[in-house]
Amino acid sequence: MPLSFATDIRPLFRDSPDVDSMQGYGLDLSSYEDVKAKAAEIYARLEDGSMPCDEPWPAERLALFKQWIDEGLAP
Ligand code: HEM
Repeated sequence: MPLSFATDIRPLFRDSPDVDSMQGYGLDLSSYEDVKAKAAEIYARLEDGSMPCDEPWPAERLALFKQWIDEGLAP
């Protein structure tokens, strides 16, 4: 079974401040369609540590997001 957005990825984003802050910047991290469409840009920000702005993701979390992309961005 590939990782899925609903089960494995959505819970990585905090309702606050991740989802609510980013909705104000035109990116809905609670939306499969949005995260799928912008997955490469999101990954780049997570990887360079610029997002989330309070605390960078640890390597295991980053690896999960990467795995989800590599497995085909399942819903
Ligand atoms: C395409 C990817 C993203 C872009 C272009 C982006 C851009 C921005 C911008 C422009 C801000 C305004 C403040 C600042 O410049 O630091 C911001 C704030 C923030 N973003 Fe993102 N972001 C992205 C992805 C993410 C992701 C994936 C997360 C969480 C996992 C996240 C969490 C946050 C948080 C927590 C804030 C703080 C808001 C505050 O303190 O008021 N962002 N983002």
